[in-house]
Amino acid sequence: MFAQLKSMLFSQSDKQITMTFYEIVKYIHVTAIILSVSGFITRVVLKLNNSPYQTKYWFKKLPHIVDTLLLASALTMVYIMGVNPLTTFWLAEKITGLIIYILLGMVALRWGKTKQIKEIAAVLAVIVFSYIVYVAHYKTPAVVFSY
Ligand code: HEM
Repeated sequence: MFAQLKSMLFSQSDKQITMTFYEIVKYIHVTAIILSVSGFITRVVLKLNNSPYQTKYWFKKLPHIVDTLLLASALTMVYIMGVNPLTTFWLAEKITGLIIYILLGMVALRWGKTKQIKEIAAVLAVIVFSYIVYVAHYKTPAVVFSY
């Protein structure tokens, strides 16, 4: 069993092993993305309803762990691809989108003065998030770096 596994691994070229690693990192990235957006929506709903759960330890800690995973996996893939994310337009578009998503998230969870502002910011954040997923899938910037 072990010998079979060993021969399978070592019969592959370096490139194939790198591809497999890239795919694992991509799965981590996509998992972190699903956790990030579902965590964000949960936090907004709990905050807007003044739920006692928002003071729990994991409520504050988990988003940091997920976001670190999201960024670390993104940077690892960019490193493996060997491209400059600022001159690769679909990546630059994703980074811009991520910054807007974070800012809207801050308005929805902290800075928003009224409940209505927080709700609007939360909806816009989810729209921007969906747009980042679109850019990730089609690898085409459609708004900021489309010209
Ligand atoms: C909220 C922020 C982000 C979201 C929602 C997001 C979403 C996604 C999704 C859904 C995929 C899989 C696409 C597919 O295969 O169909 C993906 C892949 C990827 N993302 Fe992100 N991403 C985000 C942030 C970033 C950032 C900041 C970077 C790097 C600057 C990045 C780099 C990549 C790369 C390199 C891939 C792999 C592309 C491929 O090989 O197919 N992502 N992202």
